[in-house]
Amino acid sequence: MFFPIEKFRSIPTPFYFYDVELFRRTAQVALSEAQKYGYAIHYALKANANEKLLRVLSGMGFGADCVSGAEVQRALDCGFAPQSIAFAGVGKRDDEINLGIDRRIFSFNCESEQELEVINALAAAKGTVAQVALRINPNVDAHTHAHITTGLDENKFGINLWQLNDVAKKVTQMANLKLVCIHFHIGSQITDFEPFIELCAKVNELQEQLERVGVRVEHVNVGGGLGVNYEHPEENIIPEFAAYFATLNRHIKLRTGQKLRCELGRSIAAQCGSLITKCLYVKELQKKNFVVVDAGMTDLIRPALYSAYHKIENITPQRTDQKAYDVVGPICESSDVFGRDVTLLQAQRGDLIAIRTAGAYGEVMASRYNLRQLPKAYFSDEV
Ligand code: LLP
Repeated sequence: MFFPIEKFRSIPTPFYFYDVELFRRTAQVALSEAQKYGYAIHYALKANANEKLLRVLSGMGFGADCVSGAEVQRALDCGFAPQSIAFAGVGKRDDEINLGIDRRIFSFNCESEQELEVINALAAAKGTVAQVALRINPNVDAHTHAHITTGLDENKFGINLWQLNDVAKKVTQMANLKLVCIHFHIGSQITDFEPFIELCAKVNELQEQLERVGVRVEHVNVGGGLGVNYEHPEENIIPEFAAYFATLNRHIKLRTGQKLRCELGRSIAAQCGSLITKCLYVKELQKKNFVVVDAGMTDLIRPALYSAYHKIENITPQRTDQKAYDVVGPICESSDVFGRDVTLLQAQRGDLIAIRTAGAYGEVMASRYNLRQLPKAYFSDEV
């Protein structure tokens, strides 16, 4: 990835830097691979809800996957068609549901019988019909980090298999709901395709099960989850979209006229973003060397929260010697570490450091702990 270092020198650190051309190219590959099979992608705003990036996607014909009223509003403001918006989440408030009903969004992905009853009542009060999907918990293990595994019985998400027939029959009797879709999501950062194959088998089985009780849907939404290469971003700067969609196509049995939808987030946004930070101090101790940078876990929480690996580079030019450092932030928590024993070009105060593959679940998860400012975003076509 190209970093315009000289231009970076005049921007206060830390900040997020997005390569817009790479973002566009990534989205284009994802879209064309999906379109080979007539599939639709609802981009998961939770990964990165930056308005400029969202406008790129809405302009290309992506749909949106939202998990709050504010995300639904953001998607609408950034040009996504209401009929392309799926609204998921285990705890939707009434005002958020009403926004979706008023704007006639594509679907509410519902996670319990009680939620269906509430949406039915709110739609009835407005004299209208809301489109819903049943979010089914398929009990498929995504073999990813426990915090981002969602499709197991013990997770809070979705309608469990033992309830499914009952809930599906009930929803078809609710006068102000139209069941249009079944929805699944098993987890995130999935790099081995086996769990996706298992999910397809489960979808096939459940479609038959539902048909036996007279329930048929026009759409199947398999959620998100396609992983990216955090270790070697340059090797797979564009994630494996072709293989992902080919896998779905090979294993899922759609009915005539049925449309497959997915909700990719990380794979679209991760590689185009880096967190750019400055080396404040170099501490060379007997046992360890530390680079203290001005970004902290408030700017990028993934390493602290999930022990996630992000590649770290000293992008200051004209250095050759290397050294191993723990790269740490200024926050008063021992977990405020971006990487341990990271080999970097020898660091000096003032060096610029890039923390890579931070375009997804980076800026959106920032906080103001320690009363720090939220990081700003800069774009390759504007700096
Ligand atoms: N659909 C649903 C219902 C989801 O829960 C998620 C992510 C997605 C789609 C998008 O999944 P993706 O394609 O991005 O894997 N903060 C964590 C990731 C949390 C993912 C939550 N759900 C991280 O930094 O790794």
